[in-house]
Amino acid sequence: MKLLVCGGAGFIGSNFARIRARDHGDEVVVLDKLTYAGRQENLADVEHSFLHGAIEDPDAVAGALDGVEAIVNFAAETHVDRSIAEPDAFVRTHALGTHTLLEAARASGVRYVQVSTDEVYGSIDEGTFTEASPLAPSSPYSATKAGADLLVSSYFHTYGMETLIVRGSNNYGPYQYPEKLIPLMVLNALHGDRLPVYGDGQQVRNWIHATDFARAIGQVLEHGMAGEVYNAGGPDECPNLEVVQRIIAATGAGEELIEYVTDRPGHDVRYSLSSAKVRALGWEPQVAFGEGLADTVAWYRDNEAWWAPVRSGDYRAYYERQYGRALS
Ligand code: NAD
Ligand code: DAU
Repeated sequence: MKLLVCGGAGFIGSNFARIRARDHGDEVVVLDKLTYAGRQENLADVEHSFLHGAIEDPDAVAGALDGVEAIVNFAAETHVDRSIAEPDAFVRTHALGTHTLLEAARASGVRYVQVSTDEVYGSIDEGTFTEASPLAPSSPYSATKAGADLLVSSYFHTYGMETLIVRGSNNYGPYQYPEKLIPLMVLNALHGDRLPVYGDGQQVRNWIHATDFARAIGQVLEHGMAGEVYNAGGPDECPNLEVVQRIIAATGAGEELIEYVTDRPGHDVRYSLSSAKVRALGWEPQVAFGEGLADTVAWYRDNEAWWAPVRSGDYRAYYERQYGRALS
């Protein structure tokens, strides 16, 4: 298959591109704006062609579609804290960008897969979200992702387009930008920096390894039914504080590095997904959280060449704005 992978230079998109090119022999075209989170280095070992451009730019999108059989859209602004501080780019990329891609897919008649998130359902104290759960997003990030999902569904209902939506839980693994909980805590622990836990650290996330999520998206791309939504959640749930304690144990850092800081506004307490529908397509997660976290810590420990440029660049200014303290 020839695939257009939008946002393929980011964390999950690059894991997806690697698996599709290596294990499925797909021809991969990546279209990516290369925001602070996108890096061509993430695709260094992936056979692909690369186009630098934004999904909200109709010319860039049209120029990327030659011979393409399906679009898989990962392109997004993805950090909840940044959406609280500066929501504009979230609205632009998720609303206008998704619309531009849908129009191009409609004109060329290709299958369209939207990569979405469990955060569109909001927070759940007990039980799990299914695909039938109502949307109740809390942050500008999740609200704009939910808006994009609704737009995607409308193209199925209105124009009969072959659209699919895959909603994932919290991903972790190699190539994740260190603004997110796990890589932030791993790098801070390795440097002896404070480990900033929001609130009481009892919020629960449903962790999925990025390679498992990437395989779920591939399964939906190949076998999903047009117009449908598929949840893909990880095998394990874990409170944030326990994640941090496991990272401390894996890195040999000290518990005294933990610092309880002001909670995130509107912080969702718990996410949990039922993945029965995508499992029925033949997918199941392969990486348990304990094993995947140990491998992820080892990957960051062994790949200073990947994170050193990030940690010395704009990320330092972001970190000071967000946490009110400098990194060492
Ligand atoms: P990321 O921030 O690592 O990467 C996003 C990529 O999109 C970057 O390469 C960036 O340059 C590119 N991009 C951003 N705006 C763009 C635009 N306007 N045009 C073209 N490219 C643009 O994100 P990620 O964590 O890999 O997430 C990928 C997708 O998966 C997102 O849609 C996200 O909502 C979804 N998702 C993420 C998680 C998670 O835990 N990280 C979980 C579920 C779903
Ligand atoms: O659930 C899927 C979502 O997971 C994706 O759609 C998002 O793109 C992705 O960023 C992620 O969102 P979260 O907000 O859950 O991830 P984050 O890594 O920012 O935070 C995970 C939890 O850890 C959350 O409860 C907030 C907490 N946290 C986070 C940071 C960065 C801290 O306690 N301290 C921190 O410094």
